[in-house]
Amino acid sequence: MRAALTRGLLAAALISPLPARAEVQVPTGPAVGIVSQQEGLEAWDRIFAVVSHPRCANCHVGPSDRPMWSGDSYGRTRPHGMNIRAGESRIGAETLPCATCHLGKNSDVAHSPPAVPDDWRLAPVEAHWFGQSAPTICNQLRDPALNGDRTYAELAEHLGHDVILHWAWEPGGTREPAPGTLHSHMEDILVWGAAGMPCPQ
Ligand code: HEC
Ligand code: HEC
Repeated sequence: MRAALTRGLLAAALISPLPARAEVQVPTGPAVGIVSQQEGLEAWDRIFAVVSHPRCANCHVGPSDRPMWSGDSYGRTRPHGMNIRAGESRIGAETLPCATCHLGKNSDVAHSPPAVPDDWRLAPVEAHWFGQSAPTICNQLRDPALNGDRTYAELAEHLGHDVILHWAWEPGGTREPAPGTLHSHMEDILVWGAAGMPCPQ
């Protein structure tokens, strides 16, 4: 009954555009050349606090096909319960699709499956952040071969329209949101980029 209702809601959502978590405009960043290396590194520290946060890193697991359960609301860090495997498809197509449980709408019920109005799935293998150091993630994000062939401005733009990650600031249940806001995170990317994308040693 509940599943049928949820499917009905999902069908309705596919027909009518979703008001929540729509595209977010990229703020105007500083011009290249006016941001010091030091300010760039400070922006990187704030970026790292976001990308290494469980709300981001639990999906950014790299070559593993196992999403992670970590952060305060999970108690201890461990791979996703119920032996969930994302497979090469990253959406569980080979075994149990993520969308079986992670349906279009988030809920505030503790420990219910989080959801977004997009296919819930793992991030690309190249964007491996879980358990990785700041220099490693920094180098991945500034390398076009590993970041989806994007300039820093395109990275900020991607953040604006990738609704999956908007969830991290509105995660539902008792989950702790990612630090700051999506807007401040985009601004930090633009400051870091304008400084030449400096990475810590
Ligand atoms: C539900 C899983 C999930 C969560 C949570 C998540 N991501 Fe992702 N992320 C993805 C997927 C899937 C892609 C690939 C989507 C695409 O390229 O359109 C992606 C791609 C990216 C990219 C593209 C760059 C690259 O290196 O490929 C960035 C940047 C990114 N995510 C940032 C974040 C940030 C910041 C957070 C937390 C605030 C976050 N993500 C949380 C699944 C997730
Ligand atoms: C059988 C149901 C089910 C399936 C299938 C499922 N999940 Fe989950 N998932 C859950 C539940 C329930 C939670 C929340 C548990 C909690 O909060 O204690 C969760 C939480 C998560 C989290 C943690 C989010 C966070 O930071 O709080 C990630 C990441 C995740 N799932 C990824 C996936 C991916 C990727 C797939 C498909 C490969 C998948 N899940 C398939 C039920 C499922």
